[in-house]
Parts: sequence; C-alpha cells; structure tokens
Amino acid sequence: MTTPLDRHGRPLRNLRLSVTDRCNLRCRYCMPEPDYVWLPKADVLSFEEIVRLLDVLIPLGVDRVRLTGGEPLLRAELSGLVRRIAARPAIRDLALTSNGVLLRDHARALRDAGLHRLTVSIDTLDPGTFRLLTGRDDLGRVLDGITAAREAGFDELKLDAVVIDGLNDGELPRLLDFARDIGAELRLIEYMDVGGATHWRLDRVVSRQRMLQMLTQSHGAVTPLPRLDSAPADRFRLADGSTFGIISSVTQPFCATCDRARLTADGVFLTCLYATTGTDLRALLRGGADDDTLRQRLLGLWTARRDRGAEERAALPDRGASAVVAELRQDPHREMHTRGG
Ligand code: GTP
Ligand code: 5AD
Ligand code: SF4
Repeated sequence: MTTPLDRHGRPLRNLRLSVTDRCNLRCRYCMPEPDYVWLPKADVLSFEEIVRLLDVLIPLGVDRVRLTGGEPLLRAELSGLVRRIAARPAIRDLALTSNGVLLRDHARALRDAGLHRLTVSIDTLDPGTFRLLTGRDDLGRVLDGITAAREAGFDELKLDAVVIDGLNDGELPRLLDFARDIGAELRLIEYMDVGGATHWRLDRVVSRQRMLQMLTQSHGAVTPLPRLDSAPADRFRLADGSTFGIISSVTQPFCATCDRARLTADGVFLTCLYATTGTDLRALLRGGADDDTLRQRLLGLWTARRDRGAEERAALPDRGASAVVAELRQDPHREMHTRGG
C-alpha cells in the first residue's frame, strides 16, 4: 500500500501512545490544578488492544512509536508492551518519555525488552525550584533515574526542559552543562498553551530567540545544524562541540512537517496535539470491528486531516490558555497528561 497523505501532503509516521493518564508529579505547566478527573480504569486499553491498533496503523505508515503518559512507568508491566512493540520489524524507532522518578526501578527491564531511546523530563537542577515546579521533593530520584538509564545502556538519552519565564529560565546554562557532562542532549521547550496549561500566559513563554541569546552569552557562538527529519526540535552546536535542541512550538510552529498521531490510554485517536475532538477507537475495537474496518476508518481520518493547531494558535490576536478548567473537567481528553505531552 502506498503511504497515505493528509490534506497538506503529510504522511503518518509517528505514533505517540499514551499508556496512562496518571502521573506522580504535578508539573505547573501540565497539571497545575488541585485535583483531576481521571479516565475510568475499565476504559484503558489492554496491551493486546494497543498492539492490535498498532498493527492496523503500521501499513498506513507508522514506523516510529513513542510511549508517553501521564507518567508511562506508572503502567504495570510496561516492559511487556515494549517487548511486543520492539518485536515488530516495521517499527524503526521505539522511544519513551518519562519524568524519571521511577526510572531506577525500570531502566534495565525496559532496555532488556528492546526500548531504543529514552527522554527524561528535567526542568531544573535546583531542589527548591523542583518542588515549586512539580509539587514533590523528587529531584534526587530523577537524577538517580538518569544515572540508572545510562547504566542500563541508554546511550541516546535526551533531557527535556520546559522553560518558563521567572521560574527556570536562569538555569539554561547549568542545564546545558549538566547534559553535556553526562553525554545527553538537552532540548529546551517553549511553554505551550495546551490543555492543562491553564495558567499559561504569553509573557511566561521564553522564546527560542531569547533562549539563544542567553546561551550565546553564557557559552559563546551557537551554530544551527541542518534538520534531519520531521522531529520538532531544531538542533544547534556550541563552540565546545556539544549539541542541544529547541522545540519552538509557540513562536515557530512546525505543523507543516507534522507526521504525528496520538492515541490516548483509553483509545481516542487524535490527529493534532491541539485537537478538541478525537475518534473513539475503543468503541470500535470492543464493538467487534475487524482489522479491515479499523484500517479503512483510520485511513479516512488521516486522508481528511487538515490540522495545523500550533500555527492556528500562533495566528490568534489575543492568545491565552487553550482551555478553561470547566472544559477540562468535562472532557479530560483535552488534558496534556491525557494526550501524551
Ligand atoms: P524525538 O523523537 O526524540 O525528537 O522526540 P519528540 O520531540 O517527538 O518527543 P518528546 O516527547 O520529547 O516531545 C518533546 C515536546 O515537544 C513535547 O513535550 C511537546 O512539548 C512538544 N511536542 C511533541 N509533539 C508535538 C506535536 O506534535 N506538536 C507540537 N506542537 N508540539 C509537540
Ligand atoms: N508546554 C510544553 N511542554 C509540555 N509538556 C507538558 N505540558 C507542556 C506545556 N504546557 C511536555 C514536556 C514534559 C512532557 C511530559 O510533556 O515536555 O516534559
Ligand atoms: Fe502537529 Fe498539531 Fe503539533 Fe501542529 S500543533 S505540529 S499539526 S500536532
């Protein structure tokens, strides 16, 4: 089958699989509210259901999978799912994004199960700022989790930091040095106005341009590197040879090359991070649909896709948070922790 394209000529390649909406941190940019409406446990897809959908999506073009959450390591027996996905030769890239708190306990098993790459979120190296940002005292566990990941043989380690004005923007040089010293690649992420970012304000976003100015001051000349794929990060090289990335979803959206689809833990298929509605594949699966029916449905969804969510948000004259708490309570599928970051 030839790879189907959407209405903007974009193929489907990347699948972001959220395996749980639960999280053991409460990051201010993602889950700032005191309590949340969780997906009902009975609705969460089993590994069999996830793999069945993946097998339907592979012939449509999917060859990269990223496991996300919530915090994916809260999903019991996750390495069992990793093993099944890694066994599919069509999947060239299998990665996972974690907050690192539970990594010490899981890194080895994930590696043994065949996980290729790991990204750990770490927005600060200061224990006080970590507590302020995440509501927990777990910086030590995250750092130890990163060490455990290296020990387990994850050489291609990425560290993700969401940068917020007045909170952790003063730490960029230190985060960069930390990543370089452990042989990981830091990616600095502009604070986005998706779902649960209910306290989002444009003036708290540190733009890619400002990040580059700060890093030029601290580390000297910064050289842009050519883009290798459709990944959201633009990469740069420092005078000392180390590299880092910036994900500028707010000030320079990359929708034109977006080849991603998302599946929530309860089986809702989303064709954009900003999508307000998705398609309930769980209902189809559990209603007895055969593979061909599922494939035709997904093919139809992809070929009808017109999403350019981040570009549309960037064009708004008066931009604020994209959802209010009441909307999120009514439909937790709009939460960032439900759609997988
Ligand atoms: P690589 O495959 O290693 O490049 O990973 P990735 O950048 O796709 O994954 P990661 O989970 O590390 O994503 C980093 C951040 O990029 C996310 O947390 C989001 O802030 C942002 N991001 C990821 N996917 C999308 C997307 O489809 N659209 C937009 N606008 N932002 C995204
Ligand atoms: N802006 C940017 N990135 C976010 N993430 C969650 N919320 C936001 C937001 N508002 C991403 C971060 C985090 C991952 C779990 O999800 O990259 O590390
Ligand atoms: Fe893709 Fe939507 Fe993100 Fe744009 S905003 S890059 S279309 S997921």
